[in-house]
Amino acid sequence: MSIAGKARKVTTNTLLEMKRAGEPITMLTAYDYSLARLVDAGGVDVILVGDSASNVMAGNETTVPMTLDHMIYHAQCVVRAVDRALIVVDMPFGTYQGNSRHALESAIRIMKESGAHSVKLEGGSEIVESIQRILTAGIPVMGHLGLTPQSIYKFGTYTVRAREDAEAEKLIADAKLLEGAGCFAIVLEKIPSPLAKRVSEAIAIPTIGIGAGSDVDGQVLVLHDMLGITMDFSPRFLRRYLNLESDIKKAVNAFVDDVRTKDFPNPDEQYE
Ligand code: KIV
Repeated sequence: MSIAGKARKVTTNTLLEMKRAGEPITMLTAYDYSLARLVDAGGVDVILVGDSASNVMAGNETTVPMTLDHMIYHAQCVVRAVDRALIVVDMPFGTYQGNSRHALESAIRIMKESGAHSVKLEGGSEIVESIQRILTAGIPVMGHLGLTPQSIYKFGTYTVRAREDAEAEKLIADAKLLEGAGCFAIVLEKIPSPLAKRVSEAIAIPTIGIGAGSDVDGQVLVLHDMLGITMDFSPRFLRRYLNLESDIKKAVNAFVDDVRTKDFPNPDEQYE
């Protein structure tokens, strides 16, 4: 049986074993109880309570407005739903960049108040001190390199990162730094696939790609994108598995028609 198949509860160690065995790791986002239950039942290995909740749940343009309280609320909803997957919670913008003590306090709040299993931070050498401090408290940390959406105002666009040699070399050095600091995995977002391959071969911890090609150790997508709920976002790397936007609109239209024509509720749908 596969390592993922054997795991009744996925841990950071399961992911490491999967990398060693060449078994692809699956990760999806979830932000609420009902969908997290379905995602967990679908057999995904890692559930990310991503700060992409800012875009898909709250309707913000960026992830910057997300607060620690918002993330803890979403994480609590997901934790109640999940039996098997490892739950990772994004530390939101402004809760770990200032100093490592603040970072540790933020991570402790997430772990204590939500019951999640680990946290994710965006960035490399600039935030390694915060990562080290969080790890001293026994909190597992996932890294995130490449396109780091919390820095959107620095980048200016959501285009592919690290096409130039200098940025690619920094990214490889950062990946090694995060591995050395003790991260259990690293998300690689929107970077050229040959670079993602180099990173994945250079470190022993798993890499999980989004727009980073096939030569990484796992893949992650934002749930609302892959379910076809958020149709205004269509990057090349996104595969849609459903078109729920259209299905939901049809269902709502049908309900509106049924009520207006007095077809709903029928005699079987009411009490004597
Ligand atoms: O917040 C998020 O959903 C993420 C993924 C894009 C990896 O960080």
